[in-house]
Amino acid sequence: MRNSQTLFFRNASQLLTLAGGPAPRRGRALAELGIVRDGGVLVADGMIVKAGRTRDLAREAKRLKALEIDCRSRVVMPGLVDSHTHLVFAGSRLGDFEQRIRGKTGREIARAGGGILFSARQLAQASQRDLLTRASRFLEQAALFGTTTIEIKSGYGLDVPDELKTLRVIRQLMKASSIEIVPTLLVAHALPRRFRGRKGDYVRFIIQNLIPEAGRRRLAECIDCFCDPTAFDHRQCRRILEAGAAFGMTPRVHADQTGRSGGTQLAVSVAAASADHLDHASPGDIEALARSNVVATLLPGANFFFDSRTYPPARALIEAGAAVALATDFNPGTCPTLNLQFIMSLSCTAMKMTPAEAIAASTINAAYSLRRADRLGSIEAGKQADLIVMGVDDYRKIPYFFAANHCVLTVRQGQVIASRLKQGSRGTRRSRSHALPAIS
Ligand code: NIG
Ligand code: FE
Repeated sequence: MRNSQTLFFRNASQLLTLAGGPAPRRGRALAELGIVRDGGVLVADGMIVKAGRTRDLAREAKRLKALEIDCRSRVVMPGLVDSHTHLVFAGSRLGDFEQRIRGKTGREIARAGGGILFSARQLAQASQRDLLTRASRFLEQAALFGTTTIEIKSGYGLDVPDELKTLRVIRQLMKASSIEIVPTLLVAHALPRRFRGRKGDYVRFIIQNLIPEAGRRRLAECIDCFCDPTAFDHRQCRRILEAGAAFGMTPRVHADQTGRSGGTQLAVSVAAASADHLDHASPGDIEALARSNVVATLLPGANFFFDSRTYPPARALIEAGAAVALATDFNPGTCPTLNLQFIMSLSCTAMKMTPAEAIAASTINAAYSLRRADRLGSIEAGKQADLIVMGVDDYRKIPYFFAANHCVLTVRQGQVIASRLKQGSRGTRRSRSHALPAIS
């Protein structure tokens, strides 16, 4: 299918438009999905022309000779937006995985040579081409799970050449991938061994060398740091975020993950796009977020994989009026999954978000946190035609039948970028309708 192909998605049992109301969604509005029964979407030139009831669109679809895609018994919704990943890495952390199963803590694993520094050594040994091949495969997987936009952080480089290598891989992915990518320079992720005992020197090194190199080459849209008792403090992180902002990078913060670090307050005070993790956010932090436009980005997959005991305070954040988003945090250490549908399910069972809230948090609010809500995250006339067809007739089944992949068709800019339709079902003759078979 070319961009110019006009498409008519029709007869969806539920079309989740997420239309109406300003982004980001807060409080009760987070659960408003703008559901249209027997819904239809008309797409031309990669954009949404109209969305509404099938019968109200049928005439125009005929006039435009649109290719019809029958979505009977299916949910059609906006493409998923994964607003926090560390997708470019080498190798894996299988050793850490087994150590953790045996009861070792993150600190013990790091002392024994695991953790972020282990991934950094693997990345240093990997070629740009190898990193690219692996990352491309991950993106193909993400598209199959229904993700149409993804943020990718660097962060396993720790020095200038390896961070630039990572950012160049991300740039290559941006050119070649069918998914929209937001590149983030993640600095101050961990302290390299050669700077042991000299955290201040490392922060200076980053500010004087790494950020300007990446900034001058315009390799990153955002800048991120790990503001945490186990990593860097809020003063160090502030200097880093401000140095990035001087090159036009939008701040994001890994905040209050393993303990309270002042990361949330820092995110609010620099008007960051997002404060992520928030496991240890205090009531005061939650209030500050609620009064701001900083998106509280929750990553329950990391909690699930790490110890499955504690989760971020999603309900308190929603009830206070904070803008909440969900993301995978895809990385080799704490969350090796790209399945945002599973993250939604976890948000329901472990954080008591409703299925509707989980969907808005993974689409429109995530798009807002990437500064793209004007173009992405909902199905409305004039927005980019990024949408997915789910093999269920009720959106609540997406988190309910958990750990599955319900996505049968992923469309970005009006083009099919991933499909799990059975062989022989991809007739594209204009005269014939294109029926979606059940996925068993
Ligand atoms: O978001 N918190 C720091 N960074 C990652 C973990 C990265 C790793 O362990 O490799 C996170 O969970
Ligand atoms: Fe992360």
